[in-house]
Formats: sequence, C-alpha cells, structure tokens
Amino acid sequence: MTIEVRLAGVSKSIRKKKCYRKTNSKRKQSPPRPTSTPVSFPLQRLYMSCKDVFKGIGTVPSPTDVQKLCHILDGMMAEDVGLSRNLQFFKTRSIVGVTPKVACTTIYQSEKFSLCIFFLPANAVIPLHNHPGMTVFNKLLLGKVHIKSYDLVNSSDSNHESISPSHMKLASLKVDGVYSAPCDTSVLYPTSGGNIHAFRAITPCAILDVMGPPYSKKDGRDCSYYRDIPYTTMPYMSGEEREREGYWWLEEIEVPKESEMEGIEYMGPRIIETQTSSSS
Ligand SMILES: [Fe+2]
Repeated sequence: MTIEVRLAGVSKSIRKKKCYRKTNSKRKQSPPRPTSTPVSFPLQRLYMSCKDVFKGIGTVPSPTDVQKLCHILDGMMAEDVGLSRNLQFFKTRSIVGVTPKVACTTIYQSEKFSLCIFFLPANAVIPLHNHPGMTVFNKLLLGKVHIKSYDLVNSSDSNHESISPSHMKLASLKVDGVYSAPCDTSVLYPTSGGNIHAFRAITPCAILDVMGPPYSKKDGRDCSYYRDIPYTTMPYMSGEEREREGYWWLEEIEVPKESEMEGIEYMGPRIIETQTSSSS
C-alpha cells in the first residue's frame, strides 16, 4: 500500500507493507472504553499514564510520576508511533545553504496534556523558546540533535537584577550537547531542567514530546522566543561579574521565521481514548 505523506514540505511516497488507520475528520471515533481496557501497546500505556499524571493547570508531576513517564518513554521506539529508520525522510541528506522546515504531528491533545512528534530534517532548527507553566518530556526517537537549554535565574536568589537591562533576562545554561537516539528521556519543568530550549538537527530527527499542560494563549501559556547573548558581552560589567560561568542573557524576540512548522497527519497507532484515568 502506498501512503502519501508530507514531511518537511516535501511530498514523499512511502511504501509500507502495513498501514495504520489514517486520520480523517470523518473517521468514526473509537467509543470510550472502560478502565479495565487492557493496555496493550506502549503509546496507549503512555496515554493512560499521562491521564493519571496531568491533572490540569498547575500540575507539576511528582518525582514518582516523572519516573513512571520516563520509564515508558525510555522504552519507546520509533516503531511504536508508526515510524521506521528506513523511511526516506531519515535517509535524506541536507542541502547546503538551505534551512529546512520542521514538521509536526499531533497524536493526542487535551486541555491537560498533548503528545506530539517533531520531524527535523538535517540542519533544521527549533529556535530558543519557553514553556510557561509546563512540564515537558522529550524523547529522541531517531537521529542526532544538538540541544541547548536554559533556566531563568530567579532575581531574588541573586544580585543580578541590579545589572540586568530591562529587556534582558538572566539565565543559566543547563544543557549544551549532542544527543543520539536511542537516549534517555529529558524532562523540563516550569522553572528548572532547562525550560527554555533550542534544537538543531545534525541528522534527520524525530522527537516525541509530552507536554502537560500544552500551550494555550487564552490561559497565558503562549510561546515566547529568545536570542541568547553571552554574559560577558555587557560592557559595563565588572571583571568579577564577567567571570561568572554558565550565565547568559536572554532577549525576547519576535516570532522567528524558523519557528514556522508544517502540520502533518499522524499515521501511527491510534490511542484508545478512555473516560477516566487508569488508577481510578
Ligand atoms: Fe520545546
């Protein structure tokens, strides 16, 4: 069976021996199942656990809940969301001088949490952005990616406020490294763990994101973008101030062009939606 999909702005024909149900607005919704529904595949286990963990605005998962979700995500593979490293997308080389577009597909979304996959062709970038009031789990399913992340420095914990230009926020660098799949899940929290991050694909990548709660402009969780500036470049700082390591300035910027993503259809296994959490 041939399935036409659009990945990163390029129509690609992918031949698969087996295909899962296509998303279709006319598709009949699966009826809610009782809580005794057997949890038979990793994506369903992830969904059921997310329903247990994310209770809405203000929820920050406990260490036990984080461990539970990480355990599921750490064990997940590309095939669990209908992907394969043999897809042409993951074999495509970058074109010199071209910054390719990121594609995104939503597996599930509610007011409490969302499950999405981001597809980054080689050299694609997700610019530095924040996750206000959100906890986010990132699982690199395929590829090799450079990740940089920051947390804002709480001004009450430091004396940086006095030297901070009004349009800049002081941040400490949390992660600046290259990750290759398979690797463990990374977690960011509302005020720690690298809440402001950026991705640059070294090879074509697929990243599974669990966001709780998801972005919501009406609830004050809109996405902001930043430019990072080395701490040492401020001309008026003393020598001692310039020597602080791991500090950067973050300047909020207009929505960058590279942040535009192409929405694509999710074609992996379907979640069976349940009315109540698995533990109730
Ligand atoms: Fe993000």
